[in-house]
Amino acid sequence: MPKTGTTAPPRKNAAKSAGNAASDGAKSGKKSSQPPAPANPAASSEGSLQVTDNRTGKSYTVPVSECAIRATELKKLKTDNPDDVGLVSYDPAFLNTASCRSAITYIDGDKGILRYRGYPIEQLAENATFLEVAWLLRHGELPTQEEYDKFVHDITFHTYVHENFRKFLEGFRYDAHPMAMLNSSIAGLASFYPTARNIFDETERNISIVRLLAKTPTIAAFSYRHVKGLPFVYPDNRLSYVENFLSMVARMSESKYEANPTFARALEILFILHADHEQNCSANAVRAVGSSHVDPFSAVSAGVAALFGPLHGGANEQVLRMINDIGNVKNVPKFIEGVKSGEGGRLMGFGHRVYKSYDPRAKIVKKLADDVFKVVGVDKDLEIALELERIALSDDYFISRKLYPNVDFYTGLIYRSMAFPTDFFTVLFAIGRMPGWLAQWEEMLLDKEQKIARPRQIYIGPKERPYTSKLTRKTPAYKQLHD
Ligand code: CMC
Repeated sequence: MPKTGTTAPPRKNAAKSAGNAASDGAKSGKKSSQPPAPANPAASSEGSLQVTDNRTGKSYTVPVSECAIRATELKKLKTDNPDDVGLVSYDPAFLNTASCRSAITYIDGDKGILRYRGYPIEQLAENATFLEVAWLLRHGELPTQEEYDKFVHDITFHTYVHENFRKFLEGFRYDAHPMAMLNSSIAGLASFYPTARNIFDETERNISIVRLLAKTPTIAAFSYRHVKGLPFVYPDNRLSYVENFLSMVARMSESKYEANPTFARALEILFILHADHEQNCSANAVRAVGSSHVDPFSAVSAGVAALFGPLHGGANEQVLRMINDIGNVKNVPKFIEGVKSGEGGRLMGFGHRVYKSYDPRAKIVKKLADDVFKVVGVDKDLEIALELERIALSDDYFISRKLYPNVDFYTGLIYRSMAFPTDFFTVLFAIGRMPGWLAQWEEMLLDKEQKIARPRQIYIGPKERPYTSKLTRKTPAYKQLHD
């Protein structure tokens, strides 16, 4: 009988598991050979801070390592009040808090640099396949031919979903948002694979990761067909990862689907560009939920949920809706004025927490749009997008706030040219982001320093007060005690 209990071991086992994985990783090239880059490479990364607490006059030496101080060091800064538990750092939305040490993705937001495991995104987008990048993100090194062939075989072998999934998806309304379907379906996979809860068993982790990479495009395509009222198209294992996805989306009566090669390559590049982005909202969600030692399907579904939001992956859908609302290039100046005054909402597809210059992914996407438009003709709204960009890049409101186009600004126009419906755009982002979530999840799990994610708060609610009911009809419990 398979073991299905939660396998969360005590920390010492987790550490052992992490240790094992590290040595296994060394064998398989899993560990990055490069030292981790400090958050701010220009500064001396090691040293200490001398802190004087003006409340008490006491001085403290706070160690600095990798340009960071440990927030727990602040606990030592206490007054003489016996109730004082020490200082906490207050950082809503993690503006300046590192939640982990990670060897997966490096971003320099000022210089517009993005690297996966040290490889520049531009080189990966130009030369690699999506599955090669998926392997790289998880293992830290590019796969050898043998590793790659086995990986592709394993992914291809697992593209089918259980037949009950048909019924599951058929239960959704005809107009269900595909991200809502994807989110619940990914979570639902946990019920099909109960042994996935053995997260400290490397074999179980492997198969779960393969399943998630293999089945996400199938579930995504099934959601598309459900909304369109079209019969589901089963995976065609003769095709590549991206071609198979396009086949499940678009195939009608042909015996073998042949994807447009420009579309297939464009989608592959877009998946690569989306594959990881260090501690973004959805990766953080996956890590936080995964830190409870839940199975990976449940953890990753939290990532899908986070991605759905319009400030994150949902922005690609909103960019197109915004452009539709603008309607005509002559309306752009008025729209921009509305954004600046705060009355017209945000300029979707602009701005980023980390990039304070042009998002390197957006540069690649813009070029990619040209390739796709050469095949299908220029999108009717490209003119509006270009005018929005032109005005925004020369307007002081956007310049002073360092707001540049992000990856989502032009992707919508490409997806629309490929005939994807607007509410499906974020699903495409989710397929691309899956390897990143999985790499982040596993890195978190094997990191000996990680524990259940549990932030502190600054309590600002009422002080203790006695209960006095305001109900006119008293509850049975109240009556029993007081009547
Ligand atoms: N349009 C207009 N003003 C903006 C925008 C925007 N897109 N983004 C930021 N601002 C302003 C904001 O109003 C604030 O101004 P002020 O200082 O006067 O109050 C200032 O710029 C700083 O904004 P913030 O909200 O503090 O910045 P943040 O780092 O918390 O938010 C963001 C980052 C991506 C959520 C935000 O830029 C935004 O809402 N952009 C539009 C949505 C979008 O395109 N999201 C996709 C992000 S890239 C894909 C991904 O990784 O998810």
